[in-house]
Amino acid sequence: MQGTIDFVHTMLAGVVTESDLVVDATAGNGKDTVFMASRAEHVFAFDIQKTALKRTEARLFEAGLDNVTLIHDSHVNIPLHLNHPIKAAVFNLGYLPGGDKNVTTHAKSTVTALEGVLSLLVTGGVIAFTAYPGHAEGKREAEALERHVAGLSSRTFETLLYRSLNKTNAPYAIIVKRKQADED
Ligand SMILES: C[S@@+](CC[C@H](N)C(=O)[O-])C[C@H]1O[C@@H](n2cnc3c(N)ncnc32)[C@H](O)[C@@H]1O
Repeated sequence: MQGTIDFVHTMLAGVVTESDLVVDATAGNGKDTVFMASRAEHVFAFDIQKTALKRTEARLFEAGLDNVTLIHDSHVNIPLHLNHPIKAAVFNLGYLPGGDKNVTTHAKSTVTALEGVLSLLVTGGVIAFTAYPGHAEGKREAEALERHVAGLSSRTFETLLYRSLNKTNAPYAIIVKRKQADED
């Protein structure tokens, strides 16, 4: 079975092509940004920490990728920076590995950011979250996100939970896809 991050990457790779614009909503150490940049035309990568954007920049340089705009702002403000449709967005929630654990994503802003990226998502586009229920805010956030996604119209969106049933604190994935017109 695939781990959560590999599963998220498989979901993204299934829809992202070299003519697509995509978003990394939590650049962090830049692994997802590199993954997206190697498949898409252009990536808009957000993080509220300059340290994270510097690490992402270094990782992109190492990979020889220059099709990324790094944006030092909260993902809540994504629609203020982008005025064109996107094919995918990835959110790897929680705190920066090796960074300040107090600077973490939060339930309310994550749900607001989801609504923002949904407003930009094209038909057939995918939004993928990795949630971390192993710490208190992560659990609150994951539950709020699940509730919100469960309330999305099933006429417009397909949704999916990819979660271990016997390792309850393990990270898990929440996927949202805007349906094609001919899907039921
Ligand atoms: C788990 S890390 C992301 C890991 C990253 N995707 C990677 O592949 O290395 C979470 C990141 O989200 C960032 N973050 C927290 N709140 C944010 C917000 N409101 N907007 C954008 N980024 C945020 C943190 O600074 C941190 O770098």
